[in-house]
Amino acid sequence: MNHGIRRREFLREGALAAGAAACSVYLPHAAAGVASADSRIDILLDEPLGTISPNIYGHFTEHLGGVIYDGLWVGENSPVANLQGIRKRLVEEMHKIKAPVVRYPGGCFADSYNWRDGVGPADKRPRRTNFWNDAETKTAPENHKYEPNRFGTNEFIRFCRLIGAQPYLAANLRSLPAEEFYHWVEYCNSPAGSTSLAEMRAAAGSPEPFNVRFWGVGNESWGCGGNFTPQEYAVEFRRFTTWLPHYGPDLCLVASGPYSEELSWTRGFFEELLRKGADQLRSVYGLSLHHYAWNLSRGRTTDWDKGKGSALEFDPVDWYELLREGQRVEDIVEGHWRTMGEYDTEHHVKLIVDEWGPWYRPGSEATPGNLLEQIPTLRDAVFSALTLDVFNRHPEKVAMANCAQLINCLNSLYLAHEDKFCVTPVGHVFAMYAAHQGGQALRTVISAPAVRYDRDGKPASFWGLQGSASLDGKELRLTVVNPHVSEARECSVAVRGGRIVSGSATTLTSSDIHAHNTFAEPAALEPQTKKLDVNGAELAVALPAASVNKLALVLG
Ligand code: AHR
Repeated sequence: MNHGIRRREFLREGALAAGAAACSVYLPHAAAGVASADSRIDILLDEPLGTISPNIYGHFTEHLGGVIYDGLWVGENSPVANLQGIRKRLVEEMHKIKAPVVRYPGGCFADSYNWRDGVGPADKRPRRTNFWNDAETKTAPENHKYEPNRFGTNEFIRFCRLIGAQPYLAANLRSLPAEEFYHWVEYCNSPAGSTSLAEMRAAAGSPEPFNVRFWGVGNESWGCGGNFTPQEYAVEFRRFTTWLPHYGPDLCLVASGPYSEELSWTRGFFEELLRKGADQLRSVYGLSLHHYAWNLSRGRTTDWDKGKGSALEFDPVDWYELLREGQRVEDIVEGHWRTMGEYDTEHHVKLIVDEWGPWYRPGSEATPGNLLEQIPTLRDAVFSALTLDVFNRHPEKVAMANCAQLINCLNSLYLAHEDKFCVTPVGHVFAMYAAHQGGQALRTVISAPAVRYDRDGKPASFWGLQGSASLDGKELRLTVVNPHVSEARECSVAVRGGRIVSGSATTLTSSDIHAHNTFAEPAALEPQTKKLDVNGAELAVALPAASVNKLALVLG
């Protein structure tokens, strides 16, 4: 890690350079005067891009470290407030963000998991070695290393129902036969009283089917999910999906897709799949895509361990490096989409970005011993906001996305341990952006001075502002990220073809780019909302340095 600019020095220099960031105010156009603006955003009401699938605001929970045990599940007899064993505070928070869908049980864990271990009487469920056992530390809790199966399909569906989200289950393709996949579908979806598995479900308290629509067919099948070539995986995919029982809802099957820019996986998968004819496409709802931002080495290495940076200790160049790694997702989405179009000209198959987020080296766990736990900062909020803006801008391509992961792992929205809980800056971004769900994405043209900085002796630049807009009836939402660590932007926002009658502005920022929430200081970083005094087609806003912003505008 480069400590070239120490945190204290950076703050002092940043404050001198920025000034405006600390006292940013939102000004109506008339008062501010567009002439003073250094940036401009035009929202084009008559250029809709498509409906933003609420599911791009999805989540991911894996039996990994403290995600399930301690994070989500505390148990019915816990002194921690719970709803049938599920952490009550988590349920309450997830209502605020309108959580649409949750992926489960993995991740890599999924391809070593037998769903039967997690159903039936809780005291009879077996204890198994968790997929992540080898990576766990000596001090990790036993139930992180040896899976007690106390939380399984029924408890997961209970969680989904409590938060009002759809379940998205990942089936085991590496180590179970296809038969177990359709039996899991049968357990979840066969009508009350129809099959033995429906009776087993009823015995656990759920006579009515779960109606699970979204099913992943393996996970990262190029790696932990079987180490397949794309051609081998396509053969397995065909076999696993040739027959599945359909009861009510159409099953949406997600094929295990590439990592980041790996176009050869996408090509190989489609080529082999379609060797059996074009109608094979009908069995695929989506192609999953994973992208983690982990390499902060500034081009020095591609080594998975050596390339990672620190979650909490970073300088401005590390900040830009992370955002740069995150921004790659836009080219990645476009690249795979183009490649998919070579085989699927009508774009029947959508992209499902079912794992995304920053991944740092160990050392910032809120609860020591929790594998892959890191404390998200303002940097991760900006990263998450710019990622969600990318998905908003490509509504015809991305049908679902799942932030990795929901709680106590990687880009967590929440951190929890025993009775302690906090919302991270990432959680606040999801709350701010929830308003985009189901809206009509609008083309938005943004111009702003680029960020320029010194990247180890070489000049580097990064875009100055990025964002997305959506319309729902008369309600227009614009979200914008200012990635500059020390310069605020004065921005003129114009709604082409409309008139704004009222609005509010919500901003998440801090004069310290490392700002984050902890159990001791859970409200250190929270968004602030102000009413806008505006009437007309244009307004001027100040977008603070290092900020995530949402304008909620009502049109006349
Ligand atoms: O999210 C952590 C892990 O990252 C998942 O289990 C796996 O799919 C990915 O490599």
